[in-house]
Amino acid sequence: IDELLTEGVAGKRVFVRADLNVPLDGTTITDDGRIRAVAPTIAELARAGARVIVASHLGRPKGAQDPAFSLAPAAARLGELLGAPVAFATDTVGESARATVADLADGQVAVVENLRFNPGETSKDDAERGAFADELAGLADLYVGDGFGAVHRKHASVFDLPARLPHAAGHLIATEVGVLQKLTDDVKRPYAVVLGGAKVSDKLAVIDHLLERADRILVGGGMVFTFLKAQGHEIGSSLVQEDQIPAVREYLDRAKERGVEFVLPVDVLVAAEFPDLRTKAPAHPETVAADAIPAGRMGLDIGPETGRLYASKLADAATVFWNGPMGVFEHPDYAEGTRAVAQALVDSPGFSVVGGGDSAAAVRILGFDENAFGHISTGGGASLEYLEGKTLPGLAALED
Ligand code: 3PG
Repeated sequence: IDELLTEGVAGKRVFVRADLNVPLDGTTITDDGRIRAVAPTIAELARAGARVIVASHLGRPKGAQDPAFSLAPAAARLGELLGAPVAFATDTVGESARATVADLADGQVAVVENLRFNPGETSKDDAERGAFADELAGLADLYVGDGFGAVHRKHASVFDLPARLPHAAGHLIATEVGVLQKLTDDVKRPYAVVLGGAKVSDKLAVIDHLLERADRILVGGGMVFTFLKAQGHEIGSSLVQEDQIPAVREYLDRAKERGVEFVLPVDVLVAAEFPDLRTKAPAHPETVAADAIPAGRMGLDIGPETGRLYASKLADAATVFWNGPMGVFEHPDYAEGTRAVAQALVDSPGFSVVGGGDSAAAVRILGFDENAFGHISTGGGASLEYLEGKTLPGLAALED
């Protein structure tokens, strides 16, 4: 983007592909981290006199207008952060978008409606995606890719559009890639990784990568129970992916061969039912040993002893990467495991990276100071796929 700014953007229509996919409770944004992260790029372009068109997806609407997935709340928040009015187009490439862009004066910013209201955005058909990218290209003179959270998606606005306009990467993408490079090339050791989240199937490729690089892998979240079952333990009614058990066994064996320490919980919080996240009614969990979960009980967070164990495993790490909450942190009775890991990252003198939409949201929702971490990534799937060594369409498109 620096080159673009040096060449001059005054009076130019600059399309910024951001990731404003923020969690919403109705129309209330519960974590605005992604908007704050991209705001400096937008502000800089506006200061330089560009007419800035911001576009993003939000959620996974089914290719049609759906008010529950409107970007209007994100546009309003962006306006607050920029301290300037932000225009909002009620469609993405239609009459409203064209009129809104035509009305922009130099230095003004507009947000167009959710890219995914248009089936062409996510289409697997190259021609259909290309046709939508052509329409998007008609709105702008230049393209800035800064939606790091979506660079792993081969979508029209991420992959096809940059080929149609002079393009550059924004500050957020540059920062994110710079940090993740530190975890792939010459990582400082000991390198400890905390992996959480519900499904082990989402993490297989990254575990594969980490078995070659990490010194320690600590496991939490719903995927723990597939590991415990693979070791032959009773897991009651906990979440499990039976079909992943052979893969998990193989990883545990490979970790042993390679001298990678795989650490699993020693205790867990269990209850008969999944908690009510709306009312947050007290769930009265019990703490039980991880290898003795009673029948009819499901594990919903790591236990306090595990929290202390994991903190001790992170205390001397020179580099820590954390992806995925340790439990159902949205409910106060199951937030302590995630809190313990977040606190351990804060206390660790090493360089800590929080990767992932959910874990990033968790640290903010639990009230941690973002500056206490080395880096909080705005990309969940994107940061994992980067670490897996995959070619990310949104980065590849900006490189040429
Ligand atoms: C994310 O939340 O990880 C990104 O915004 C991408 O969203 P998606 O998984 O719906 O493509």
